Parts: sequence; C-alpha cells; structure tokens
Amino acid sequence: MPDLKTSYLGLNLRNPLVASASPYARKVDKVKELADAGIAAVVMHSLFEEQINHESRALDFFLNQGTESFAEALTYFPEMDHYDVGPEKYLRLIGELKKAIPVPVIASLNGISNGGWVDYSKRMADAGADALELNIYFLSTEVNVTAGDLEKAQVELVGKICSEVRIPVAVKLNPFYTSLPNFAAALVKAGAKGLVLFNRFYQPSLDIEALEVVPDLHLSTSDENRLPLRWVAILYGKIQADLALTSGIHTGEDVVKAVMAGANVAMMTSAILHNGTHYPMTVLKGLEEWMSAHEYQAVSQMHGALSQKSVANPAAFERANYLQVLTKFDSKLK
Ligand SMILES: Cc1cc2nc3c(=O)[nH]c(=O)nc-3n(C[C@H](O)[C@H](O)[C@H](O)COP(=O)(O)O)c2cc1C
Repeated sequence: MPDLKTSYLGLNLRNPLVASASPYARKVDKVKELADAGIAAVVMHSLFEEQINHESRALDFFLNQGTESFAEALTYFPEMDHYDVGPEKYLRLIGELKKAIPVPVIASLNGISNGGWVDYSKRMADAGADALELNIYFLSTEVNVTAGDLEKAQVELVGKICSEVRIPVAVKLNPFYTSLPNFAAALVKAGAKGLVLFNRFYQPSLDIEALEVVPDLHLSTSDENRLPLRWVAILYGKIQADLALTSGIHTGEDVVKAVMAGANVAMMTSAILHNGTHYPMTVLKGLEEWMSAHEYQAVSQMHGALSQKSVANPAAFERANYLQVLTKFDSKLK
C-alpha cells in the first residue's frame, strides 16, 4: 500500500484529499460520513462578514428596544434564538465537528473590510478550529479603484488576522491578479501559511425573456483543474507556504496531478455533491491504484514533480507555450 500521508498548514494529514468549503459542514452526520470515507480534513462553509455584521446590528436592536435597565435588557436575549444567530451557531458547530471526527477541522471566514468581524478569527481558534481559511472574495466594479490599492488592503487584512490568531491561516484566492506570484509572496510575508487556489466564481447568466440576471450554480468538471494546476505549478518552490488546489478535483488522477504540480492537498466539493459523501473512498482508491501501478511508494515522492521548476520545459507553463499550441492546432486544419 502506498503511503498517502502529507502535511498541510503544519497539520499531519492521512492523505492529500480534503473536503473544501461546502454546505456539508452544516450537518455533523454528513461530515462524519466524509471522514468515514477517508477525507483527511474538512473545511467548513464560510462565515460571512455580512452575517457577523448582521448579528451585531440585531444585538444592538434588541439591547436598545426600550430597555431601561441591564436586567430588563437580559430578558431580550432569548429572543436572539429566533433571530439570525449565524456566527454563534457557527462557533458551536466547530466544537461539535471537532468532537465528531478524528481529522482536522478548518474554519472559513469570508470578508474583505477591516472591521469588527475580524475578531471572529480569534473566536474560531478558541472554539477549537485547527486552522482558518480566509476567503477574500471581492469584485471591484469601480473605475477609480486601483489593483494596488485593493491588494494593499487585502495584505493588511491578512496581516491583521494572522497576528491575532494562534492557528495557521490559509488564504483562498481568485485567479484574477495581474501578478499573482508577487501578491502571493506579499500574503505569505503578512503571515499566511497556505494559499488555496482558486475560488470558483458563480457567473450569473441573463434571462433574456424575463430581463433578469439569473444567479446560477454549476458543479465543476475535471477540465477546470487546469487553471489552478498551472498556478500551483508556477508558485511551487517560489513562496514559503503550503498550496491547496481547489476546482475540478474529481478523480484519483486529478489528485495525482495536483500533488505533482506542487499542491500539499487537493480539495473537493462538486464531485462529492454529485456522487455522495462516500465518494472520497473511490477517489482515494483511484489514487492508491495509480500510485501502485506507477511504483510510487509515497505521496511525498510525487510532490512538485511536475512543477515549473522540475519539468524539462518550464516555458510550457508560460506564454511561450501559447504559440506552440496554436501552431500545432493550425497543422490540424483541413
Ligand atoms: C454549493 C457550494 C457551496 C460552497 N460554499 C463555499 C463557502 O462557503 N466558502 C468557500 O470558500 N467556498 C465555497 N464553495 C467553493 C468550494 O469550496 C470549491 O472551492 C469550489 O466549488 C471548487 O471546487 P470543486 O470543483 O471541487 O467544486 C462552495 C461550492 C459549492 C458548490
């Protein structure tokens, strides 16, 4: 049996297959099924800055509703149970998941502004999370906001969170940066111990009959792992942080590709949503079988073997490859 062990964010993992952030973590029994199927760690669904701000506004509301005294104010607290108690429930869920499964639980925080919600990173650590994934999803629609301004704010935010928590922090990125290696290095300098490549955007469509924007969620296919594979391969060995690949991991061979590009772990959501919580077992079996057939004894032997710095033709990951691919295609034209 090949040795599948790896490490990510300083956590020792039994294999490189991690469940990425998804609604599964809301249900302890589903997360148990994932762990039983061999998943090595679970990233929880994100707690959003907006949810936290919403709760603090709700608390203000209850505390200021004609309350003359502290004692009276306290009587309003039970009402909170009927209101949106997202953040508190989330913190409790961390503890429940930790008790339920023998593998690490990674909490996920999604936000962008430098506000009070940042304190939740500390509370997640106190609640027992083994690590924190910070999703800095932001879409700029302003013509007067520069990339530099935004990146500086994001690096500062990551620095603030990393300085406040004692657990390792990974940052989940989108692929749309002008110079990703430069930004990645800045995040690592600010304290990030890992980068998760990439956030998958849910592109809205247009309903041209109803004249509406239609939010839509499509699950991924293996084809989508090409974008993160390329960037993991480019970043491997250039930055002092662990790399997680998310988007389009569906098979054991996809996991092999992720690890060979340089990822410490491959993360999976769509394939589990499509096939069920037992599916990680199939993927891990595929990984083991592929490794045995190709005489790899350990995942560590494959790590980074096809990264940009290891391959015979590093330009294959760069612009030079573009011309080559187009020329090859031209020769097929009839
Ligand atoms: C239904 C659903 C819910 C998701 N929720 C979150 C979330 O709360 N936070 C987050 O960072 N990513 C979230 N994701 C993104 C996944 O973690 C993952 O990065 C993405 O789906 C790409 O991986 P895949 O190709 O394996 O699906 C969600 C994805 C799906 C399909």
